[in-house]
Amino acid sequence: MIAQTISARPSAAPSAKKKRTASPKKIVLLPGDGIGPEVTRVAADVLRTCAAEGGYSFDFTEMPFGGAGIEADGEPLPQATLAACLDADAILLGAVGGPRWESRPQGQRPEAGLLGLRKSLGLYINLRPVRLRTALAGISPLRPERAKSIDIEIVRELAGGIYFGEHGQETVDGVERAWDVETYTAPEIERVAQYAFARAEARTQRVASVDKANVLTSSALWRRTVTRLAARHPDVKLEHMYVDNAAMQLVLNPSQFDVIVTSNMFGDILSDGAAALVGSIGLIPSMSLGFGPSLYEPIHGSAPTLAGKDVACPVGSILSAAMLLNESLGLAVEAAAVDTALDRVLERGFRTADIAEPSGQLIGCARFGELLNAELRATLKRQSAAGKAGGA
Ligand code: IPM
Ligand code: MG
Repeated sequence: MIAQTISARPSAAPSAKKKRTASPKKIVLLPGDGIGPEVTRVAADVLRTCAAEGGYSFDFTEMPFGGAGIEADGEPLPQATLAACLDADAILLGAVGGPRWESRPQGQRPEAGLLGLRKSLGLYINLRPVRLRTALAGISPLRPERAKSIDIEIVRELAGGIYFGEHGQETVDGVERAWDVETYTAPEIERVAQYAFARAEARTQRVASVDKANVLTSSALWRRTVTRLAARHPDVKLEHMYVDNAAMQLVLNPSQFDVIVTSNMFGDILSDGAAALVGSIGLIPSMSLGFGPSLYEPIHGSAPTLAGKDVACPVGSILSAAMLLNESLGLAVEAAAVDTALDRVLERGFRTADIAEPSGQLIGCARFGELLNAELRATLKRQSAAGKAGGA
């Protein structure tokens, strides 16, 4: 087991800057497998840049997880990794999985580490914001008039459903059979729906609850429970949608959606589809919330074929770091600065391979990170100068 404690780079002139935090916030980094380490490196640099500019520091601890956990410790979620996560202020994860571990039994694969971590931390809400960036309008597979106002928050239930129901297999009379049980309790549905309503109240007050209530009993409970909860949120317009229809509506008319709330598996599937509408799955961050520290991760996988080639898109990871700053650390100004810096890099035409455009300049993951961090530094400096000029 390798645990590495890295301090944030000291600020250029720490004494001259205002200290914002009493003791450094503990951030656990779980780079994981495939392109995970490459994109997490860039995202960790984003946090370091904010710390350096703000005159504070983060206490980073990098831990083995997923396939890397199996290699280091024989299991995808080593005890020490879980202990560090439980003790963290926030967790930044890369991605897990790869061909090297595909022959292992389901419960011992890297993905089992991710599910185990979500379960152990009680992470029952997963928020996946999907928004079209003006600079990337050209790469949406949709016609411009359909794509232009995509701004959706997918609230995915993360600790229940078919992912965590009974799994089994048997062979009877030479015939193989396997099953995975979708199960939900009303309180499990209520707590995630409650969050979706609250998000919608802060946005344009529309919730689409996605299920398959025409076929599945668990979906019928989902629909009844969400409907009951809606009475407590009279300002929110609730709509129910079957998942097959939702998949179609996302493609035909994505701007009809504000907040989508759905089960673990439907959320997994719909969020990949929605990501493609705004250009690439590499662009989308996520936040997982529960009873303890929150976890931030891009929604993409470990992309083993891209690993080690410096071609991965770090944007999902960068934006996950921005969500971490905003939601776990209350650093909204810094989070907004990351967003501004990202737009500037994209406006200047820099692109990783997945979001390449003929007119753009193709660069690698690390270079994208350097450019982003340089823009972020400049943005934070500008903001700080404007704050001083304004007497703040
Ligand atoms: C995701 C991923 C995971 C999931 C896998 C890697 C287990 O696809 O976070 O969307 O299915 O939840
Ligand atoms: Mg997925």
